[in-house]
Amino acid sequence: MITLGIETSCDETAVAVLKDRQILSNIVSSSMHLHSKYGGIVPEIATRHHVEVINYCLREAISQAGVKLNAIDLVSVTEGPGLIGAILIGVSFAKALAYSLEVPLVGTNHVIAHLWANFLTPQKPRLPFVGLVVSGGHTSLFLVNAADRYSLLGQTQDDAAGEAFDKVAKVLGLGYPGGPAIEKISKSADLSKMVKFEIPSSKDNSLDFSFSGIKTAVLYYVKKSGGPEKLKKDRIAAIAAGFQEAVCDALVRKAILACRVSGSKDLAIGGGVSANSRLRQKLSEAAVANGIKIFIPPLKLCLDNAAMTAMLGALLFKKGIRSDLFISGFSNMPAGREGV
Ligand code: KG4
Ligand code: ZN
Repeated sequence: MITLGIETSCDETAVAVLKDRQILSNIVSSSMHLHSKYGGIVPEIATRHHVEVINYCLREAISQAGVKLNAIDLVSVTEGPGLIGAILIGVSFAKALAYSLEVPLVGTNHVIAHLWANFLTPQKPRLPFVGLVVSGGHTSLFLVNAADRYSLLGQTQDDAAGEAFDKVAKVLGLGYPGGPAIEKISKSADLSKMVKFEIPSSKDNSLDFSFSGIKTAVLYYVKKSGGPEKLKKDRIAAIAAGFQEAVCDALVRKAILACRVSGSKDLAIGGGVSANSRLRQKLSEAAVANGIKIFIPPLKLCLDNAAMTAMLGALLFKKGIRSDLFISGFSNMPAGREGV
């Protein structure tokens, strides 16, 4: 079955073609460079970029896949959650395409789709598995029973992990997006000299997260030191590394706890923060120590892409799920809902 995936929930315009689980093409056009000077995503800029490039992304996806438009059997699109204007571009485009090609349409949840990126690699998790989604807008733990059946085990009570990376990077004068910048500078830090930050809730047994406290702790630390301009590069690296370490430790601890509580031996992660090499390393070590099998997508599939959208859509389609032409993107599909 040939599935066309379309993803426009935030600042990436993405179109992909899958043949069953095989990626034939995976086109991503990011507007990130246009947002960096504002220190965060500007919805209007992201939306305009989708309008400008979505046709080009489709052409490129079809051409790289080596298929004709009329070979497509299914259109799968991100229906939410995301920036409403941005989502509407993808949803409207997908509806028009499905209607004109006379093929079915399936709307998918973007947060959940991040976990199904792990089904695009030869080794895939066994159901039910624990899924940790760590992105710019979400930090959630799920128990995934099927493509259309999952339950929320825990989530952040305030900032998402990616959001905390972005805000702390801003405080440290490292620019936007913050995650890759913090990871890069942390690599130069002497781990024995890193500034230690605590995540208070990391000792409790709930599966929820909280990252606003550590963000504020970094802010006060930097203010007390006279601001980022007064700090030498190795000091900034020591603060960044200390922050990254604490966030990774909290994510790892709760993910392992979720496996223990649910009895699942398979743990899959996804979302932009799962591109972080320190998190990947710590999760892999903790998984081995706890007899858990860890699934981490390749870097390109951690960040927003449409191959994962197509994968989830194809699985939902096989379960008999279809969307009609009235999907709007306004449902914003809460990630914690049981089922889709
Ligand atoms: O999943 P994603 O591409 O978009 C959303 O759905 O939000 O995630 C974007 C987030 C941003 O906050 C970005 O700073 C973070 O992922 N991120 C990282 C890394 N690469 C991206 N965080 C930590 N380390 C990274 N290497
Ligand atoms: Zn995402």
